[in-house]
Amino acid sequence: MTAPLEAVLVGAGNRGADVYGAWALAHPDQMVITAVAEPVEGRRRAFAARHGIPPERQFTTWEDLFARPQLARAAIIATQDQMHTGPALAALKAGYDVLLEKPMAHRLDECIRLVQAAERTGRVLQVCHVLRYTDFFRRVYEIVRSGRLGQVITVSHRENVSALHMAHSYVRGNWRRADEASPMILAKCCHDLDLLYWILGQRCVRLSSVGGLTHFRPENAPPGAPDRCLEGCPVAESCPFYAPALYDRAEPVFAALARARKPVYRLIGRLGLRDPQAVERLAGVVPALQGIFEFRRSVRAIIAEDPDDPESVHRALLNGPYGRCVYHCDNDVVDHQIVAMEFEGGVSASLTMHGHSHEEGRTLRVDGSRATLLGKLSASEAWLEIHEHRGVAVERIEMAGEIEAGRHGGGDDRLMTAFVAALQGGEQAPLTSARASLESHLMAFAAEQARVEGQVIEMDAFRAEAEKLGER
Ligand SMILES: NC(=O)c1ccc[n+]([C@@H]2O[C@H](COP(=O)([O-])OP(=O)(O)OC[C@H]3O[C@@H](n4cnc5c(N)ncnc54)[C@H](O)[C@@H]3O)[C@@H](O)[C@H]2O)c1
Repeated sequence: MTAPLEAVLVGAGNRGADVYGAWALAHPDQMVITAVAEPVEGRRRAFAARHGIPPERQFTTWEDLFARPQLARAAIIATQDQMHTGPALAALKAGYDVLLEKPMAHRLDECIRLVQAAERTGRVLQVCHVLRYTDFFRRVYEIVRSGRLGQVITVSHRENVSALHMAHSYVRGNWRRADEASPMILAKCCHDLDLLYWILGQRCVRLSSVGGLTHFRPENAPPGAPDRCLEGCPVAESCPFYAPALYDRAEPVFAALARARKPVYRLIGRLGLRDPQAVERLAGVVPALQGIFEFRRSVRAIIAEDPDDPESVHRALLNGPYGRCVYHCDNDVVDHQIVAMEFEGGVSASLTMHGHSHEEGRTLRVDGSRATLLGKLSASEAWLEIHEHRGVAVERIEMAGEIEAGRHGGGDDRLMTAFVAALQGGEQAPLTSARASLESHLMAFAAEQARVEGQVIEMDAFRAEAEKLGER
């Protein structure tokens, strides 16, 4: 039996600790994390304790970690968007194979430098495009590539960001400003652009884009709304973005359950909307309900020092960024954007990204010369339908398992399995290379330029200019 893959972790935050770290703990035969770099002491200590990492392998920053001789075969880089390039370049230089969170980097020149460094060193640089690893998008890929739809003519793909996810991440939170994080079309949709490129097997020839920040602006604030939700907001009971409803009462989770198809989910959802504490008490004896509160805890861990202490959460809402009125933040990223693309084979595709959806999820439609493929992947539903043009045949593929298969429809887990298998010489190779991942990032940067400057971007020229950025 092969020994588990040894890896170091840079950034023990939400993704690093709760997704990749948790996966390693659940699969000790496949991966062992042997060192960690994390500046927040509590997180570093907690992570080290969970993974049995000795003090001499705990580092405050990635610089300290990579200054040491190579400590493991692989490095997982899960720092924030603007802090990917430094550690990833250092890891490649030190001889690590790298699993890098998306987006590769928040600037185009840095993305190019990363790809060039991976190609120069011959090391693996796997970008976490987790959706390629979901059953849902694998099925879409297989159906399109099988030719069953005939010649593909158009693709219409939507990334429907829920209004509350929008408020949390892109209005109040870490991705609210393009200069501090990255343009939303890169942060949110490098996955979707990667899927289009992968499923069609063709590169984008030209694109244009429109969109902007329409709603989350001061002029749309309800009359009398203060700067913070807890400062006596007159619309506390009706505003969809009222912070305590999200962080205290987990209303979005209960609302999603109340809309689910399974009657038992609907019942719990309705009860939770009326009396969340009753469901919390019930979760003490019904383990299946604990997921609701794990989700609330993971969101609270982002906003408060101690996610288990209601006082700490209350203080965060009184003083921290997540208690701000959504109309009085310092956000500048868009709340909607549409990208129109032409691909090499003449396929026209559109990507609609917006942050005003009743639920989180992606929908798609692929029209071919022989059939149409419709699909939806959300927290409540996962299905595909193939409608043949000749006759009346409709094939419906239900994938309810996707919803229960963990984060990103099971993509997080399968990405890790593929990464380990690829490094261990197993059969399941990573499905993408750094160069292939770059393509979606090029499209995102081009889309942002097209939106801001009102241009149509020719992708060949854009690619050629971009490649030169790495050489500077
Ligand atoms: N693949 C996906 O689908 C997906 C989903 C969500 C987020 N992400 C990406 O994952 C990345 C991490 O997001 P997150 O929500 O986990 O962020 P986070 O802020 O929770 O975690 C980042 C961690 O990096 C640490 N850090 C800061 N400076 C450091 C340094 N010098 N050395 C080592 N660690 C340092 C921070 O203290 C923090 O704990 C982001 O780039 C984000 O866009 C990807």
